[in-house]
Amino acid sequence: MENQVLQAIADRRSTRGFEAAPLTQEQLDALMSAATASPSALNLQSWHFTFCSDAAVIKDVEDEVGRIIMAGTDEGAKQRMTARQMKVFYNAPTVIFISSDAQSKWSAFDAGIAAENIVLAAQSMGLGSVIIGMCGLAFQGSNGDKFAAALRFPAGYRFSLAIAVGTANVTKEAHPIGENKITVM
Ligand SMILES: Cc1cc2nc3c(=O)[nH]c(=O)nc-3n(C[C@H](O)[C@H](O)[C@H](O)COP(=O)(O)O)c2cc1C
Repeated sequence: MENQVLQAIADRRSTRGFEAAPLTQEQLDALMSAATASPSALNLQSWHFTFCSDAAVIKDVEDEVGRIIMAGTDEGAKQRMTARQMKVFYNAPTVIFISSDAQSKWSAFDAGIAAENIVLAAQSMGLGSVIIGMCGLAFQGSNGDKFAAALRFPAGYRFSLAIAVGTANVTKEAHPIGENKITVM
């Protein structure tokens, strides 16, 4: 079967390199609609979306993540950071930070589902995107509250996920599918 939604799902990749060109207001509006159209447990909408196109704020978060990783003991993470030139958001012009109601037991599901709505919407508009969990380190460190305030997380909300979005300047193959991921009965 073929349709545009299935095609967007099939074509989406994690984009790890972006043009500097900013998103248009029309693109931003469409992503905001896709984000807030997401289903959520009990329709409690436990998420908040901060659309950040402020390069200085994005770089501050990125630098903090780099500092924390390079000062830590996770050698794999250090190697990934070095291989990626210390880039966490890959020069994306916009990063969407999803923060979640800390009281909600469903917030991880709600945030993940919203992230997928966003990346598929981005794909359907010809944009690249990548979901970023690693930047959570910046919000767990001693400057976490400062970053949450800079990104205007609502009171009682904590970082869940981020999505870097923009025009891709790299390509990537589809990920290989693991074995035994589906059972048909
Ligand atoms: C919850 C979550 C967190 C992720 N965090 C990161 C991240 O911090 N940095 C990154 O480069 N990619 C991150 N990714 C992207 C995955 O590495 C990617 O989805 C996976 O390798 C499959 O590749 P594909 O998205 O191109 O199919 C994350 C994906 C998910 C779903």
